Amino acid sequence: MSSLEDSLLLLAIETTCDETAAAVLEGPRPPRQGVPTIRSSVVASQVGLHQPYGGVVPEIASRAHVRQVVPIIDQALRRAGVSLGELGLVAVATRPGLVGALVVGLTAAKALSLALEIPLVAVDHLEGHLYACQLAHPDREVYPCVGLVVSGGHTSLYFCQSPLQSEFLGGTTDDAAGEAFDKVASLLGLGYPGGPEIERAALGGNPAAFVFPRAFLHDERLQWSFSGLKTAVLYALAGQNARHVPPNLAPGLVRDVAASFQEAVIDVIVAKTRQALTRIKIKKLGVGGGVAANCRFRHKLREMGDGMGVEVFIPPQSLCTDNAAMAGIALPKLAAGQTSSLDIDVSAGLVRPGRII
Ligand code: KG4
Ligand code: ZN
Repeated sequence: MSSLEDSLLLLAIETTCDETAAAVLEGPRPPRQGVPTIRSSVVASQVGLHQPYGGVVPEIASRAHVRQVVPIIDQALRRAGVSLGELGLVAVATRPGLVGALVVGLTAAKALSLALEIPLVAVDHLEGHLYACQLAHPDREVYPCVGLVVSGGHTSLYFCQSPLQSEFLGGTTDDAAGEAFDKVASLLGLGYPGGPEIERAALGGNPAAFVFPRAFLHDERLQWSFSGLKTAVLYALAGQNARHVPPNLAPGLVRDVAASFQEAVIDVIVAKTRQALTRIKIKKLGVGGGVAANCRFRHKLREMGDGMGVEVFIPPQSLCTDNAAMAGIALPKLAAGQTSSLDIDVSAGLVRPGRII
């Protein structure tokens, strides 16, 4: 940054699901343009609180956010060496997510905006996941690109003309890919969250041991479905038409099922992404969301990109799973005049252009 007047410090807050996170970023003060840099990023995971239930319990998540949000903001400011008075903007993810969880982050952001007399910018968690690609590659133009979000709640493809302008191309008709990882991990008796557990188990397994279904693979529609795949895993473990998985599965079976399941998920996501790139005729792909932390998935996407001459942007793993830094998309939003008033509310659902919510 050339001078203090030219730069802007922003505090970002993220409480959409089961991570309480805050980050401090520094970027060019609009109308100057540029990608902000991350001064600090703190993530407090609630995994231990939800683990006994095998999934996120919304009420527990909200209460944990209430306890954590102020200490985490404080930690992010300290690590960045920034005081409250130096902040020029507060950003917060207001959709999609768990309503009770979202409200905690938004209330904290509103209080700071009011007390410090600085603008408030509401961001979309999914746009943030994709903007993480730009944060991770500040010297390259990520947009326009095909955007692929693969998280615990969403599996969607977009045509992103710019960070703030995107068009929904297609998505899952039932579970999100991350959700399928979590549910299959539960069937296999592995811990929560399931994605990293399956990835670990799959390392020692044979991805060709089971031929699991790959829905819509040869279909023109940009759609996914993971429900048949989950049922196929259940039958592989328990026998046809069985409802319960027997306890004490053989470790070799767990590894083979994990590897075969992971391969099936990756195959369909890569195939639909290839279709989207071919259709949109764009040579750039941005990928975001927790599942993008999976090494095999990252490798397969890069391999596809190499084969098609497509530049593939995948953030480092800490910027794939939920974090507040990705709310740095607030800077281009501020530049575009997209600030929020203090009476804005959260929205639990996915907002798609042209859709009535
Ligand atoms: O983006 P994220 O942190 O939160 C949501 O916005 O949902 O994504 C969380 C999801 C979980 O379902 C988790 O199991 C999955 O991402 N995940 C993974 C891996 N790490 C996290 N899935 C596959 N492999 C991983 N290494
Ligand atoms: Zn997320």
